[in-house]
Order: sequence, then C-alpha cells, then structure tokens
Amino acid sequence: GKIAVLMGGPSAERDISLLSGNAVLTALLGAGLQAHAFDPAERSVWELKEAGFTHAFIALHGRFGEDGTVQGALQTLGIPYTGSGVMASAIGMDKWRTKLVWLAAGVPTPKFRMLAPGVDFSGVMDELGLPLIIKPAREGSSIGVSKVSSAAEFGPAFDAAYKLDPLVIAEEFVSGQEMTAAVFGDVALPLVRIEPLQGDYDYQNKYFTDNVRYHCPAGIAPEIEEAVQQDALRAFQVLGCRGWARADVILRADGSYSFLEMNTCPGMTGHSLVPMAARAAGISFEQLCLNILEQAKL
Ligand code: DAL
Ligand code: MG
Repeated sequence: GKIAVLMGGPSAERDISLLSGNAVLTALLGAGLQAHAFDPAERSVWELKEAGFTHAFIALHGRFGEDGTVQGALQTLGIPYTGSGVMASAIGMDKWRTKLVWLAAGVPTPKFRMLAPGVDFSGVMDELGLPLIIKPAREGSSIGVSKVSSAAEFGPAFDAAYKLDPLVIAEEFVSGQEMTAAVFGDVALPLVRIEPLQGDYDYQNKYFTDNVRYHCPAGIAPEIEEAVQQDALRAFQVLGCRGWARADVILRADGSYSFLEMNTCPGMTGHSLVPMAARAAGISFEQLCLNILEQAKL
C-alpha cells in the first residue's frame, strides 16, 4: 500500500507534529514501505484518496489531528488510519470530558472544575486549594498551562488559557512524581518516570532542552507500577481508545496516583515518551511504528 504520514497541520502543536511525523516517516521508509509525508495544512486531506493513498499514519497532535476531525474525514474517505477513532479522539482531546468519563468509571483523576469567564476565583481556590493548575481543555504539550500560587495569578492564568480555548479548567495541583503510561494494543508498557532537573516539565523542557531525566524502568514499587498499568488500560478502554495512546499520571508519595489526561496521538519525537517505553520493552522505534500501522483500521 501507499502510506500517508499525516504531519504538521494547523494546531498549536504543529512543530511537534513535524518532529513526530518525520521520525515516523524515516522509520517506515527504513522498513522499506512506500510512505510519504502529507501536511494537511498545505494539502486538503480530501485529496488523499485520489492521490492513491491506502493507509494513513496519523502523526498529528492537538486540534484537527487528534480530536476526531481528521479521523472523521479518513473514515468518510474509507482510508484506514492509526490510533483511536472519532469518538475517543474527540473525548481524549477534551480534558474536561475525559475527566467526567473517568470519574464515572472510577479512574482516579485530580479534582477539577470548568471555569467560565467572570468566575469567582475565591470560590475556586476554596474548592481546589493552592497551588492549582489552570489549562485550556483542548490543548497539548503544556501549551497554555499555568500553575497558580496566589489569587493575583489567577486572572492572567485564566486569560492565557482562554485565549487558546474557551473551555478552561482548573485542577487541583497534585504534588508527586510525573509518570506516563503508554498503552500499546492491549498492554500497558513499562512506566516512564519524568524527573525535571531544572524548572517544570513544560513545553521547552519537553522537547528542546536536556533539563529532564527520564527513568524507564521507573524504579517504583512493582505493585504500584502494576496498579497504574491496570488503571491505564482501563482509562484507555473506557474512553474507547484504539491502537495506542499515552496516559499521564502523577504518583503521590503515599503510593496513590491520579490520571491527568489521555493523549490519543502521543509524541514520537526524539524526546518523546512512548518510544522510550517501547525501547525498554524491547520494541525498536521501527517496530513500534510498524505495529501501530498494522493496527490501522476504519
Ligand atoms: N501532546 C504531545 C505531543 C504528547 O502528548 O506527546
Ligand atoms: Mg497532552
């Protein structure tokens, strides 16, 4: 078949998607497949069929590419695509609705509430405590995320998030170790523990610095690792995810943990976490890409 690696796109995570997409493209070409880069910001996805593409590897992040939009187009075109379908992509892109589903399903997630413009900050602070996190519900890579430590920081944090998405949430700040659980087919891969050496695990440190140390194996108690993996699978299943995804988790000192979000089209850059977890499980980057592609469905 002829494979389109969808990358770039119009979202705020465009640059990251180009890194992911080029890494995937190189791997697929290395495996001898007929793969081509396709940037849906430059070319309409409606051209895919007539251009002879038989499969799509979605390496898009954020809105349009990860939120069910492109999935719906591919579905309509009849071109099998990697990862989650329309519904799970749409819910997974929306942290507020993801958390509502998890709450109903008993997947632990930090306390949260939606913030409308003009919201009474003091009520939110009473409810969630300080510090708290404010984020646009439908963004990625920490874009628009603020940690609010005082009442004065609330307004600017809300405005920064609201500029990106009218759906803004506040979330209880969970102090603990940041971890990630990649789900690959029906299994959760080994956890990766993220240790920022300088600053936070933010946009810059996620992709462009060496200020973060990654641990895989994560070096946590095996029974806790297993519990997180089990819950990650459940978190994946209740959202209806397919193929692969990555859940981000905070582990508290007492061994309890909370799931922050599900990434239905996780980063595949040189700094990204799913490739690290796969490597620790003995799966090369090329094999990872091939397996994701093999699971492409309509
Ligand atoms: N949203 C970025 C790409 C990630 O989760 O890896
Ligand atoms: Mg994300």
